[in-house]
Amino acid sequence: MNATPAFAHLDSEVGGLAAQPAAERIRFIRADRWIGFPRAELGVNLLRGLIDHPSCARMPCLLIHGDSGMGKTKIVERFRRDFPDDFDIQAGRAQRPVLIMEMPPGPSEQRFYRQMLAVLNAPQHGYERLDVLEQIALRLLHAINPRMLIIDEVHNLVAGTPREQRRTLNLLKFLANQLRIPLVCLGTDDALRAMQSDPQIASRFEPFHLPRWRADVAFRSLLATLETVLPLRKPSNLEQKSMVECILGHSRGITGNVVRLLTRAAVEAILNGQERIEATALERGLQPPSIERKHSML
Ligand SMILES: Nc1ncnc2c1ncn2[C@@H]1O[C@H](COP(=O)(O)OP(=O)(O)OP(=O)(O)O)[C@@H](O)[C@H]1O
Ligand SMILES: [Mg+2]
Repeated sequence: MNATPAFAHLDSEVGGLAAQPAAERIRFIRADRWIGFPRAELGVNLLRGLIDHPSCARMPCLLIHGDSGMGKTKIVERFRRDFPDDFDIQAGRAQRPVLIMEMPPGPSEQRFYRQMLAVLNAPQHGYERLDVLEQIALRLLHAINPRMLIIDEVHNLVAGTPREQRRTLNLLKFLANQLRIPLVCLGTDDALRAMQSDPQIASRFEPFHLPRWRADVAFRSLLATLETVLPLRKPSNLEQKSMVECILGHSRGITGNVVRLLTRAAVEAILNGQERIEATALERGLQPPSIERKHSML
C-alpha cells in the first residue's frame, strides 16, 4: 500500500493507518515491533552465521553485551523467529533448533541445570544431585539436538562467589565441548568482565557490544525510522538537533528508553490532537504519567 501524499513522512504500510481512529493507532503504537537499526541487524546476522557454522571441536561462541535496555534480548527474539520449535513426526520428538535459557541469579551448577531442565520441560523433583541433573540435561540435549544454546542474563554470574563463578564458567566450556554447538551469552558489561576473567572463555567468546546511542548519524537515523512507524498525521521532525538532544538526554542513550519515550509522546500527541511529537511532551521525559494525566488518557 502506498502512503497518501499527506502522510509522506510515514512508512508506506503505516501511512494507511494514519487515517484510522485514535484507539486503533494507539494499539499499533504500543505493539511490540522490531526496528532493524544497523547494529541490531549486524547482531542478528552474526547469530545467523554462527548457527550455520559446521560442527567442530572448538565452536565459535558469542557474547552480546551492553547496558540494560539496549536491545540484546530483542536481537535474539528477532533471530529466533527464523528458527521456530518444531515436532519431528517420524522421530516422534520435539525439535528446538535454538534453545534459550537464563543464567540463574546466584549461579551454581545445580541451579544452571535446573533452569535448563525447566526450559526443556523436563520433570524434576528438586532433590537430584548434580551428576544426575547433568546426566538428564545432556541426554535431553542430545535427543533434542539444538543447533545453538543462548544464555541470557549472564551478568547474574557476578552475583555468585568467585568459586561459583569459576565453576559456572567451566560449565559453559564443558557444554560447548560436549554439544559442539555455538553458545551465545547475553549480558551487561559485568558479564564481559566476568567472562574475560577466564582466559579460555575469553578466547572462545567473541564480544559484540551494543553501545549507548550518541548524537550521531546512526542515532538520527534511528529516530527517523521510528518516526516513520508512529502513525501520527503530521511530521514531528525528530531528526532536528533540538529533538535529538532532548531525546538523547532523557533516554540516556538507551534504546528501550528511546522507544518508551517516543511511544508515550506519540500516544499523547494523538490524545491531545496535536498529531505530532512536541518537544514539551519529551521534556516530561520518562516520568510515569500522573494520576490526572492517566485519567485524561482513558
Ligand atoms: N531492535 C529493536 N526494535 C524495537 N525495539 C527495540 C529494539 N531493541 C530494543 N528495543 C526496545 O528496547 C526494550 C529493551 O530491549 P531488550 O529487552 O532487548 O534489552 P536488553 O538489552 O535485553 O536489556 P536487559 O539487559 O535489561 O535484559 C525493548 O522492550 C524494546 O522496547
Ligand atoms: Mg534482556
